[in-house]
Amino acid sequence: MKKVRIWDLPIRLFHWSLVALVVILVVTQEIGGNAMEWHFRAGYAVLALIAFRILWGLAGTRYARFSSFIYSPSTILAYVRAHKQALKERYLGHNPLGSLSVFALLANLLAQAVSGLFSNDDIANDGPLVKFISKDLSDQITWFHKEVSATLLYVLVALHVAAIAYYYFRKKQNLVRPMITGDQMMDLDAPAANDSWLMRMLALMLLALCAAGVYYVVNLSPQPLA
Ligand code: HEM
Ligand code: HEM
Repeated sequence: MKKVRIWDLPIRLFHWSLVALVVILVVTQEIGGNAMEWHFRAGYAVLALIAFRILWGLAGTRYARFSSFIYSPSTILAYVRAHKQALKERYLGHNPLGSLSVFALLANLLAQAVSGLFSNDDIANDGPLVKFISKDLSDQITWFHKEVSATLLYVLVALHVAAIAYYYFRKKQNLVRPMITGDQMMDLDAPAANDSWLMRMLALMLLALCAAGVYYVVNLSPQPLA
């Protein structure tokens, strides 16, 4: 058995920060009132993280790149139907079924964070872009944020954690350890992700760029009338 680096440090930090932020987002909206200030801040952080993840999916290391886990429907079906463990174990990084859940989680978090910018709580808290749209539209987007996207988030996270538990208990495959240490044990030779400090610095620069973009959008002010 050999250790192969699968998840680079940026992906691991991205994942566990995302988990912490989603917990903060759910708790703060339960408390409401002044806690919504932190709901907003955590939401901006998620937006920057997802933007970073999209860039990292294009320019990141081997297993982080979307091209390494975009599978055709026929591959996904073959994977689901495969009885042979060998076929199931051929995939490093996100497997064909897992990739569906990754894309769904990322897309829904993006929709949730963007819709949050246009949401209001009918009392004191308006998202920073509410001022650009009508109250009616903001109410509709708030409904999407609270009822559609938030519900979907709970469902997707529950499925995500259930799938990981299933792999652990039924298939004796620990997916969580690689998401912490970065390494997966393999009996075959497999190319490792280039988790070098150079790549980590690139990730930091991309994250800073995304944070600056979010800061800019959040602080947009309406054009004064000429
Ligand atoms: C708020 C809760 C969570 C969210 C939003 C979330 C989101 C995600 C996302 C977006 C990915 C894809 C990573 C990437 O390539 O960018 C992922 C992967 C992963 N997550 Fe989570 N996650 C959550 C909770 C958890 C928890 C509680 C665990 C541990 C029990 C966990 C374990 C993992 C593992 C092991 C992977 C890699 C799966 C694989 O090997 O394909 N996640 N998660
Ligand atoms: C991915 C990031 C986000 C998540 C996971 C999230 C999650 C949630 C949840 C679960 C709710 C309450 C749903 C319910 O009442 O059942 C909520 C409400 C709300 N969120 Fe977010 N949110 C995010 C980002 C944002 C952002 C960026 C903003 C604004 C800048 C925002 C503003 C609001 C507002 C104004 C409400 C309505 C509160 C109320 O009516 O009491 N959210 N959010």
